Amino acid sequence: MYRSVQNPKDAARKVTVLELRERKSAGPMITMTTAYDFTMATLFDEAGIDVILVGDSLGMVVQGHTNTLPVSIDEICYHGRAVARALARAHLVGDLPFMSFQTSPRQAMRNAGKLLKHGSFESVKLEGGAHYAEHVYQIVRAGIPVMGHVGLTPQSIHALGGFKVQGKTLDAAEQIVNDAKALEQAGAYAILIEAMPPDMAALVTRAVSIPTIGIGAGRECDGQVLVSTDLLGLSRGHVPKFSKRYAELGDQAVDAARRYIDEVRARSFPDAAHEYRRVTA
Ligand code: KIV
Repeated sequence: MYRSVQNPKDAARKVTVLELRERKSAGPMITMTTAYDFTMATLFDEAGIDVILVGDSLGMVVQGHTNTLPVSIDEICYHGRAVARALARAHLVGDLPFMSFQTSPRQAMRNAGKLLKHGSFESVKLEGGAHYAEHVYQIVRAGIPVMGHVGLTPQSIHALGGFKVQGKTLDAAEQIVNDAKALEQAGAYAILIEAMPPDMAALVTRAVSIPTIGIGAGRECDGQVLVSTDLLGLSRGHVPKFSKRYAELGDQAVDAARRYIDEVRARSFPDAAHEYRRVTA
């Protein structure tokens, strides 16, 4: 049966931000993926994933938008509550969506609080570097752990001119190192690095004492994250270069649905094995 985090024994086994911080020196590598619903979160927790993110990628992979900008804090909370019910072990992070924190440190703190209060999250993630250090500081002061996010920050897609690799020059990488250091100083417990050449991401990883978690950033980070629909091969269309598909569940789903359609039309489903029996008196 499904396990419940309501059980104090299960709660004791949860991955904490303290444990994640220690992984930087002690290992093993941090494993992270996204989930948006109870069923998928149950499977990843059973597999032993360390961190589950309800990312604002839900705007693209669940809602079908072309970017993450339309996602609201209430939507992140809704999916967070569903995912939280499934997790016995994995640490649960919630994304602060576009315009839920940028306005001021006070707005950032209030909405981070909302994620914990109404989304059942255990920490929050926000995109941006030194410019948002004060925001991170205020959230952390309120007792809420923060994961930073540097490199490609999809909420700035229009300013960046698209989903483009970042930190390709030494100057750009240096800026990202400064961003990472500012986030660390502000109290972040980890930093997600998105879409950077591996040697540049390694520079960032060595520059901070908190763990880095890479996506499209090479293997020198302290952990890795993939969007779950890519990891499982559920997504259709363009597959990002950095993304490895560990299964092709999308193809399997189409195949299963086609066989179901055929059997229903042929009246071979339901067969006797899938029918209830009448009680004979
Ligand atoms: O929203 C998201 O899914 C992300 C990915 C980069 C992991 O932030």
